[in-house]
Amino acid sequence: MKNRTFRIGNIGVDRALLISSFVFRLLQEDWSDVFKPQSVRSYQQIFSAAYFTEALRKDHTALGAFVKEELIGIYILKKEFGGVGFVDWLGVDKRFRRQGVASELLRLGDQLALSLKLHFLYLYTERKSNISFYENRGFKLIGTLNNAWFGEDECVLAKQLKDQPFAEVYKKVGR
Ligand SMILES: CC(C)(COP(=O)(O)OP(=O)(O)OC[C@H]1O[C@@H](n2cnc3c(N)ncnc32)[C@H](O)[C@@H]1OP(=O)(O)O)[C@@H](O)C(=O)NCCC(=O)NCCS
Repeated sequence: MKNRTFRIGNIGVDRALLISSFVFRLLQEDWSDVFKPQSVRSYQQIFSAAYFTEALRKDHTALGAFVKEELIGIYILKKEFGGVGFVDWLGVDKRFRRQGVASELLRLGDQLALSLKLHFLYLYTERKSNISFYENRGFKLIGTLNNAWFGEDECVLAKQLKDQPFAEVYKKVGR
């Protein structure tokens, strides 16, 4: 993107608290209209610094968008087995939306996924208005999981990054 004011880089496990604070605020500001209050609170408890510490040590990778030193956007990818990746988190600070931050995070997320030998990505979204955003970026709507986690509805979207799995995924099952 031209005249871009943000930069994107990896966020290490040492910044798990920063990620969880960012996610806590996103949940507060952006999920209150789509989730029941008790679902928001439950997710805020789940996505703690301890969650991200463990996840980043194990099988997750986080990309952060920064303006100067401030974290303004995140993309978190979980590497599953068989060449499949789960986009665990995507979110951009309200003040920096509609400037291409999430699009760039998704673009770099695809590159990251390919470098991890993933050929397929999937994610969930609770917000119907996000569906076209993802469709415009190569995802397809698979369906809806009604009454799923905490009784909330989740739309499932998936993207094929490569026709066939990487040969490597068969060589060693697991991560
Ligand atoms: C969904 C979300 C991640 C999008 O982030 P974003 O950084 O605003 O996304 P982008 O700027 O890349 O794109 C958003 C729209 O702005 C448009 N846009 C991008 N750059 C623009 C610019 N410079 N000027 C005007 N519009 C622009 C894009 O075309 C896009 O519209 P489109 O989908 O119709 O093409 C953000 O709204 C968010 O964090 N929402 C709350 C959390 C959430 O729902 N996360 C996803 C959970 S699954």
